[in-house]
This record gives sequence, C-alpha cells and structure tokens, in this order.
Amino acid sequence: MIRFSENHSLKAHNTFGVDAKAKYFFECTDPVDLQVFFTENKSWREERLIVLGEGSNILFLNDFDGLIIHPNVPGIKTVNEDRNNYWIEVGAGEIWDEFVEFCVNYNLGGIENLSLIPGTVGAAPVQNIGAYGQEVCNVVEKVKGYDIEKQQLSEYKVDECRFAYRDSIFKSYLKNKFIITSVIFRLEKFPEFNLKYGQLEQKVNEKGAPTLQTIRDAVIEIRSSKLPDVNKLGNAGSFFKNPVVDAEIAEKLKQSFDTVPVYVAPNGKVKLAAGWLIDQAGWKGVRKGAVGVHEDQALVLVNYGGATGKEIFDFSEKIKQSVLEKFGVELIREVNCI
Ligand code: EPU
Repeated sequence: MIRFSENHSLKAHNTFGVDAKAKYFFECTDPVDLQVFFTENKSWREERLIVLGEGSNILFLNDFDGLIIHPNVPGIKTVNEDRNNYWIEVGAGEIWDEFVEFCVNYNLGGIENLSLIPGTVGAAPVQNIGAYGQEVCNVVEKVKGYDIEKQQLSEYKVDECRFAYRDSIFKSYLKNKFIITSVIFRLEKFPEFNLKYGQLEQKVNEKGAPTLQTIRDAVIEIRSSKLPDVNKLGNAGSFFKNPVVDAEIAEKLKQSFDTVPVYVAPNGKVKLAAGWLIDQAGWKGVRKGAVGVHEDQALVLVNYGGATGKEIFDFSEKIKQSVLEKFGVELIREVNCI
C-alpha cells in the first residue's frame, strides 16, 4: 500500500497532539516502494525530509515545509534459530509494545523491561530506547532500510549502529538519510532476568515468581503510575536526556545537594537524573496555559489540550534556563524539535 498526500495534518502523527501540517506526506508498507518513490522522481531527494514512526519523540514547532516519510512496514517473522536464541525480523511499522507482548507470550526474553514504551519498532533503534536497566541495542542484530543518498536498500549490523545512551548512527550521521524498514532482534529462549533497576524486583515479587509476564506486568504498573498515557494526555515521554557529566561536577553537586541521585556512566562519567534536577528547581506540576510539567514525573512535558509546538518549546527553554542557573548543568532535549 502506498499513500501520498499534500498539506497533510500531523495531529494524529505526533503524541504531543500538536496541530501542524506537512507539505508532503508519503506512507508505504513495502521497502521497495521507497526505492520506486525516490528513483522515479529524483527531486524528492532535494526536499527537507523527516522519517516519522508514531511520532512519540517529536515536537513540531511549525508546519513542516517538506516531505514526511512514514514507513509503515508490517510483519513479525522468525529468520533464524539455534539452541538458545530466535532471530526475529520485525517491520518498522509494528507497534513496539505489541511486539514486546508477542515476545512475552512466546516466552522470548530480552525486551520485557521495555514494556509500554510508546512508538514503532522502526523508531526503537534510532534513539536506542531504554528503561529499567535494559536498552534495545542489547538485542538488536541488524537494522535494515533504504539509503536515500546511495539509492539502495541496505543494512547495518549492531556494531555499525554506534549505539550509545539514547543515541545511534540513525539519530546522528544517518539522520533522515536512512529510512529504517525492519529490525532483526536476537531473543533468548532461556532468559536471564534483569531486575536490578530501582523498585522493579520488589514490584515483580509482589506478583509472584519472576517470569517474563510478571516482569512485563510490573514494568507496566510502574510506568503507568508515573508516566501519562499518550492517548489521554499529549506528551513524548522524557523531554530531556539524563545529563552525563564529568565526575568532578557530580562531586561538587553532591557537596551542595546531598540527595542528588548519581549513576555510573561509561568512560568515568556520571549520569544525573534530569527529573530530579527539574523537580528540585520547582517545576514539577507547574502549568502555564495548555503546557505543563507532569505532576508525577518532572521529565515529562504535557499538552493539556491545544498547546502549540512553540509554546511547549518555549516552556522547555525556561526549564533549561532555570536548571542551568540552579545547578550549572545544561539539559539536552531528548525529543526531536522540528
Ligand atoms: N526523580 C525525581 N523527580 C521526578 C522524577 C525523577 O526526583 O519528578 C528522581 C527519582 O526519584 C530517581 C531519579 O530521579 O531518583 C531517576 O528517576 P527514574 O528512575 O524515574 O528514571 P528517570 O531518570 O526519570 C529514565 C528514562 C525513562 C525510563 C526510566 C526507567 C531517560 C531520559 N529517561 O527516567 O525513559 O522509563 O529511566 O528506566 O533516560 C523516556 O525515555 O521517554 C523514558 C520515559
């Protein structure tokens, strides 16, 4: 199936529910359709371009004067198997949490801690989604897609994807140049559970013995208690990344604020909790017009209805400024602002 339209409303294509329009919108269900689309009319390669999944990590500040590609490729299929693993190829258009549910139902381990994360499978590797001690890069084998510059379908093996905390080659060097059409995951037949993060183990124990299902149920319960449902209240999950700083900066902060949460990060660095910084700067639950900081999780900005992208962005600027003044730490947006 292919669909092309002009002046296309994006309201249903971003979880903030911002009412913006795209000049051109192209949706397809087969990777080959992308190849045909870009080779039949070369001028498409000159357009400003965005690849959009469910729009759960994007904020449109204005109408988008370019081309939006929505690769809505379906399908979940086993491509390989050995004693310990299944390799499963999943179309970019599948909903991430439905795939997690599928794996839990078939007793395939590796992504149960990533339950209830909004978005599509194709978007998962882009920002290397992570939660409760797991990141998707740990189970990705290959990412397949269409390379607009090379004009061909190609693939990246996991060690070529430059995965890092909420980052990958698809978010940096290949941003809007490579359209992910499917992802191959390696899942465990005999999973080792990862319950170390925060209150997860306690929550799982309340439900019985640890299984993929009890872990999924526990994660869903924790997430639902803190994070607003995108179907009820416009938001895009964590608006900012947790800042990664030098150990000396974290040490100095600890001297002034002894409760500051700090986590070990790669290369001797330290990760701070942006939610804590925003909360301590007094923003939790603060609302201005239709925009606000969620009352249970300060990392999440919400659209109470009718907010423009610009209003949400301006609000986030004020938060950034205030955290910088109070703690000397610069917050970096996790959400893609267009
Ligand atoms: N905290 C506060 N106030 C708040 C929020 C958090 O003081 O309003 C404190 C907590 O008490 C805790 C620390 O900050 O000490 C960390 O909080 P939490 O464990 O809830 O996780 P987070 O750092 O706020 C990250 C991810 C989430 C992910 C959770 C669980 C980022 C940017 N966010 O949040 O991911 O679900 O850990 O693993 O890394 C997302 O990316 O959209 C997302 C929701």
